[in-house]
Amino acid sequence: MEERLLNAINLTEDKDTEYSLRPQKISEYIGQQKVKDKLEIFVEAAKKRKEALDHVLFYGPPGLGKTTLANIIAKEMGGNLKITSGPAIERAGDLAAILTSLSPYDVLFIDEIHRLNRSVEEILYPAMEDFALDIVIGKGASAKSIRLDLPKFTLIGATTRVGLLTSPLRDRFGVMCPMEFYKDEELKEIIVRSASILNIEIEDEAGYEVARRSRGTPRIANRLLKRVRDYSEVKGNGIINIDSAVKALELLEVDKEGFDRIDNKIIEAIVDNFNGGPVGLETLAYFIGEEFDTLDDVYEPYLLQKGFIIRTPRGRVATDKAYKHLNRTIAKMDMKQCTVFDDDEI
Ligand SMILES: Nc1ncnc2c1ncn2[C@@H]1O[C@H](COP(=O)(O)OP(=O)(O)O)[C@@H](O)[C@H]1O
Ligand SMILES: [Mg+2]
Repeated sequence: MEERLLNAINLTEDKDTEYSLRPQKISEYIGQQKVKDKLEIFVEAAKKRKEALDHVLFYGPPGLGKTTLANIIAKEMGGNLKITSGPAIERAGDLAAILTSLSPYDVLFIDEIHRLNRSVEEILYPAMEDFALDIVIGKGASAKSIRLDLPKFTLIGATTRVGLLTSPLRDRFGVMCPMEFYKDEELKEIIVRSASILNIEIEDEAGYEVARRSRGTPRIANRLLKRVRDYSEVKGNGIINIDSAVKALELLEVDKEGFDRIDNKIIEAIVDNFNGGPVGLETLAYFIGEEFDTLDDVYEPYLLQKGFIIRTPRGRVATDKAYKHLNRTIAKMDMKQCTVFDDDEI
């Protein structure tokens, strides 16, 4: 796949700075106040009772700090962190091996947990609920099921697609943490923090400009910061000011809303080719030649949150903001006739 600048999914270019930029303590973790408040209470309560923290599920678009929080929780709880992912656990036996290797208070982090296969997932139910592992010994009539005790551990799941989780799995998480897009001021703070770690000089106004165009996503903010730094080093004196920031962002084809070519293609298609909508996401994906999953995980959530499109039972509809952004006359459409979903399940 082509690596896109504004794609919040981890790119190879992020790897070199990922470790140094990742907050290690909750106090360094900027934003997501609701999630932090919740976690602080549950972590403290669990520590007081000398119990493992209840299982936690982080869900929301990529790049918002789910993996970072899992690391922080493991440190806070004083346990080891084991990291794996849904697609990496192929067989039930693989998961059984991981579970039996845990010690009390350990944290098992399963990224992309919606991609676990069913037979693996079934091992998780008793493990999460009763800290037990059921294994079948023998075959046919003589087969026997025995139950092994597991240490009290915490499962942390992360997913960009909470709607794809089965309900038995979802119901076994005690702490549900929806991750939100960051506010511009929070991203600005993240940019200033990252700049100081990477020894980059960035002026205040420039920091805001980069923040505003980072799609509410720390991973993108960090990436843009590095690109804008490169530009300022080559074209200027190395210090990022508003002028070099804007020029660099223009060169990178990140517009004032933080949209890239694909975002603009999406709203253009809805407005120009589908009469403003409604149009289904699958039709849209096909029409603009993009993967449905990328549209669903990455592009749509941001366009929705910025209020450029809305969801209706019959598909996506472009709003006045989209028309204005594209300099088109606003279509006469009675929005009141559309039932707007504010939930993410359509
Ligand atoms: N709240 C935050 N404060 C500061 N930096 C953050 C925060 N959340 C994420 N980051 C930065 O963004 C990067 C991506 O976060 P990550 O936890 O990998 O996202 P996710 O797992 O949700 O895709 C991290 O490496 C970190 O540098
Ligand atoms: Mg992650």
